[in-house]
Amino acid sequence: MWRATHKKFPPGPSDGLKRWSLGPLNDNPLEYFTRVACEYGDIAGLRVLNFKTIFINHPDLIEEVLVTNARKYSKGRVLRANRHVFGEGLLTSEGDFWLRQRRLAQPAFHRLRIASYAATMVEYTQRMLNGWRGGEERDAHQEMMRLTLQIVGKTLFDADVERDAPEVGKSLELLLEIGANFRRTIFVPHWLPTPANLRVKREVAQIEKILYRIIGERRATGRDAGDLLSMLLSAQDQDGSRMTDRQLRDEAITLFLAGHETTASTLSWTWWLLAQNPEVEAKLHAELDAVLGNRAPSLDDLPRLAYTGHVITESLRLYPAAWGMARLAVEDHEIAGYPVTKGMGVAMAQWVVHRDPRWYDAPQEFLPERWENDLWKRLPRFAYFPFGGGPRQCIGNAFALMEATLILAMIARKFRLRLVANHPVAPLASITLRPRHGVRVTLESRGNNAAEASFSRKQSAVAD
Ligand code: HEM
Repeated sequence: MWRATHKKFPPGPSDGLKRWSLGPLNDNPLEYFTRVACEYGDIAGLRVLNFKTIFINHPDLIEEVLVTNARKYSKGRVLRANRHVFGEGLLTSEGDFWLRQRRLAQPAFHRLRIASYAATMVEYTQRMLNGWRGGEERDAHQEMMRLTLQIVGKTLFDADVERDAPEVGKSLELLLEIGANFRRTIFVPHWLPTPANLRVKREVAQIEKILYRIIGERRATGRDAGDLLSMLLSAQDQDGSRMTDRQLRDEAITLFLAGHETTASTLSWTWWLLAQNPEVEAKLHAELDAVLGNRAPSLDDLPRLAYTGHVITESLRLYPAAWGMARLAVEDHEIAGYPVTKGMGVAMAQWVVHRDPRWYDAPQEFLPERWENDLWKRLPRFAYFPFGGGPRQCIGNAFALMEATLILAMIARKFRLRLVANHPVAPLASITLRPRHGVRVTLESRGNNAAEASFSRKQSAVAD
């Protein structure tokens, strides 16, 4: 459908982005990419300073880049520019090194292994809820960030972040805060002693100190905690070599960063969407009351919490934590008949594709029921790709979905989260998509007596 073009570079808003200023792309990338897709369609050429980037906006083209031609690309500039933080961890490494690390880490994310994390997720959420009282005002985003950080710390590193390493949380948040800016991460080399770079250095050093301590303790005791760290420590390559402390540090920092803010933001957006869509919220509560009554969810409940799952799926459609992705061509080839030369960028935006009326009816509306009857089977494969795709697909995909569904179920069983009036909630498209000023809410206790009563009525009806 796009073949047989004679042009060298796709048409696009090349003149809008001036030297040393990314203007609209930096100010509001979500709006910028939406506008470009609207004006130029499935493929557009962007010139950002001296970089040429092809922006693709059709599921089939995205599949070509992420799957069919995956070997012809490396990760994009933003991730590469943050290598001093992530090191050679899974997110940023390339080639044979990446493949080896991916194979070593994969068992920790195996379905059966992940199943054993469910109890920890429920336990930590319960711990958080024990401190919540009806009528209180809280920042839902802060709460979700703290909770998912604790869960990732416990499940993957058997560390109690709150108790053993509260500094990790603080440092990670500062890193995420600082890493939020395109211009800084791509165009200010990380070795320049700017105040922001010095802060990053300080925070990274702080996290490293703690990670090396955890690694050292584990090596000394040889304890198998059954977590990711134990697996990585004991994993051996064919030649018998094991991972160095530096490699372990890179994987740990990557998983801490990749594995907590994404899930936290997904939940924060979910609370915001639910608060504005009372009919969806009511349906969610009805399902939770019917399936769980007054008990906490477990892994076995998930197949029966279908609507709860659809709420998360739909939330990831409208507010995908990974709102856009990029690649760099490592060899010459072509996309849709346009030449792609080595060093050229390719960008795609979940934010745009997930809201495209060609794939979704009423695309701006929050309608979890659209996922009933296997909508995803009728969609082109890359019309919905919150976890990316191809060989570099998110390794934490199943972990994140299980975690988000369990946390949502645990909290919504007990509380409604009402938005605090006049508190602005707006997306900030940094490396991930998060609520710029948090999501301030008032906790409203659901008074689960009603839930219990309705559950026992239903149970006795079933028994009758
Ligand atoms: C809702 C939550 C999450 C979303 C939306 C998400 C999204 C993504 C996406 C889109 C990618 C691919 C990036 C690319 O190809 O350039 C990715 C990669 C990755 N994610 Fe996630 N993620 C989530 C949760 C997690 C969790 C919970 C973990 C770990 C505990 C995790 C660990 C990783 C890692 C290590 C990679 C790199 C994989 C590789 O290249 O081999 N993510 N994630």
